[in-house]
Amino acid sequence: MPSNDASRTTVERLSEQRMLSLIHHYWKIILIVIAGLIFLLLVIVVFSIYFARNVSITTTTIDINLNTTTIKATSFMSSTTSKQHCNAEFERISTKISCLERKVSAFHIASGDFNNDNRTDLVYACKFPKYEKIVISLNHRNGTFQNSMRFSLPNSDWIQSIHVADLNNDEQSDALLIHGAELQKSLTILLGNGSGMFHYSTITLFQSRAISIKMGDVADFNNDDRIDVLLVFQYNEKVRIAVLFGNGDGTFQTQMIALFVEISGLPRKIRVDDLNNDKILDIVINFGNDDICTLFGYPNGTFSSEVFLFKQNTVRIFDFSVSDVNNDKELDIIASDEKSKHMYALFGNGNGAFQKQKPFFGSIVALNPLILINDFDHDNQPDIAFFYVWKYTHCLVYHYQNNTFKLKGKTVLESRGFVHSVVAHDIDVDSHLDIILVMSEPSNIYILFGYGNATFYSQMIYSATVEHYPNWLVVTHSNQDHYPDLIHVGYETQLIDVFMYEHDCSIV
Ligand SMILES: *[C@@H]1O[C@H](CO)[C@@H](O)[C@H](O)[C@H]1NC(C)=O
Ligand SMILES: *[C@@H]1O[C@H](CO)[C@@H](O)[C@H](O)[C@H]1NC(C)=O
Ligand SMILES: *[C@@H]1O[C@H](CO)[C@@H](O)[C@H](O)[C@H]1NC(C)=O
Ligand SMILES: *[C@@H]1O[C@H](CO)[C@@H](O)[C@H](O)[C@H]1NC(C)=O
Ligand SMILES: *[C@@H]1O[C@H](CO)[C@@H](O)[C@H](O)[C@H]1NC(C)=O
Ligand SMILES: *[C@@H]1O[C@H](CO)[C@@H](O)[C@H](O)[C@H]1NC(C)=O
Ligand SMILES: *[C@@H]1O[C@H](CO)[C@@H](O)[C@H](O)[C@H]1NC(C)=O
Repeated sequence: MPSNDASRTTVERLSEQRMLSLIHHYWKIILIVIAGLIFLLLVIVVFSIYFARNVSITTTTIDINLNTTTIKATSFMSSTTSKQHCNAEFERISTKISCLERKVSAFHIASGDFNNDNRTDLVYACKFPKYEKIVISLNHRNGTFQNSMRFSLPNSDWIQSIHVADLNNDEQSDALLIHGAELQKSLTILLGNGSGMFHYSTITLFQSRAISIKMGDVADFNNDDRIDVLLVFQYNEKVRIAVLFGNGDGTFQTQMIALFVEISGLPRKIRVDDLNNDKILDIVINFGNDDICTLFGYPNGTFSSEVFLFKQNTVRIFDFSVSDVNNDKELDIIASDEKSKHMYALFGNGNGAFQKQKPFFGSIVALNPLILINDFDHDNQPDIAFFYVWKYTHCLVYHYQNNTFKLKGKTVLESRGFVHSVVAHDIDVDSHLDIILVMSEPSNIYILFGYGNATFYSQMIYSATVEHYPNWLVVTHSNQDHYPDLIHVGYETQLIDVFMYEHDCSIV
């Protein structure tokens, strides 16, 4: 046994020596390779520092913090999760919308809880050549929908928008349809009884082809706890704004005081908020791709004359958002300008005046730059997420700190199409805000799951190859788990899809 051991040791020793010399030999090669790699790395680092310098020279207005993550979106229903994250799966359950398989020429939709079960129900309108069909669809807990009511509005003029609010102060959700084009401008009021049934009536506002309602909203504009209707319409090429006061019983005072806004161009986006802390709602409105103006509400339902925020023809505002971004408790306005490719922050001082800050850089190529404001990094201060498409979709998160906007995080999403809308919500309930991106051409949905540090990893949850129209989406709770679900309605597929989030931490 010992001799055996001894011979084994000599053999072992011999092979050890051979191994050692081999290792020496390989070490030399490895060292040479490592030296080469280090040299290459140095070249790359020097080059990228040089490049980064060059980049920051062209964008001196901001302190660029090169916090970048590039994420490859994977195919439908699979995920690109990192080890720290649970696997997100979505079960898709579809219900056909009730538009009779026929081609609809327009589709409008809104959501609310119409039968008091804390589920998101839908009210939608399909436009056919001779009539418009209105459908109330109630949400079952299992992701399917069932119509509780359907009716047609014969010869009605095009529905411009649908709004859900309690119009008659009975604590049940009601709906308001604004008919905006063609001859007759009217409102259809749907009063709900809390069981998914509605009583409806239509009131005529104007009978004139010269007037077209471009936009509307519902809110309490004179602070009497009754819902009023705001209408933005065009008459003689000029924009006018009017408020119809609600009587609190589902009827409205149709005698309106319309205010001229001395601007031609189509109103594009409107936000209603109290900008000057007088408890009366004010308006921020953007026309065409151009300027933004503020109008301050008076208790009698009229507004101050418009105050333009930029010198005329100096900007082409694509999107704006109203939020407090500098933590002074006053509302600010953040706008993305396609002309200068910069973003503007206008800090509100709480009495209706706005102070323009030094613009900060968006992207040299920004197409359709959208803005979403929320706290993406857990510091209790809203950040500005800025989205643009240049080959892929980019999400830059800016943060206001020490009198300057800093780029806090950047996420690049390999995607196709345009960003149509963005919504912030904590989809996986990990207390980090996520972002849902609704894309068009083709119609896709991505979720950017937040790491809580202003960067995200992405997952595509819906992908269409043929659809072009952007789809409608709302984040909601459909089933009994505590995870939110997404309700998505496709114009072209004619489907209501519920994406139920399924939390699965076993797959890592
Ligand atoms: C953000 O957090 C993720 C996950 O913890 C990490 O992988 C990533 O490097 C972080 N990014 C930055 C810029 O801190
Ligand atoms: C990226 O951001 C994180 C968190 O905000 C920060 O701690 C980190 O230093 C940044 N990284 C770089 C390279 O600037
Ligand atoms: C809906 O939510 C409200 C408030 O949380 C609660 O009081 C009510 O019981 C809920 N109703 C149902 C049907 O779950
Ligand atoms: C969902 O629930 C409704 C009502 O309870 C039921 O009629 C329907 O069959 C269910 N659908 C599925 C797919 O479970
Ligand atoms: C609502 O109206 C429907 C149909 O008229 C009726 O069956 C239901 O009981 C009503 N619900 C309430 C809460 O009044
Ligand atoms: C509404 O109130 C404003 C401000 O008090 C006033 O200037 C305006 O004349 C009033 N308009 C009407 C129609 O009463
Ligand atoms: C902000 O400025 C203060 C005072 O100049 C400084 O102490 C602090 O470090 C700065 N914070 C950051 C994040 O740059």
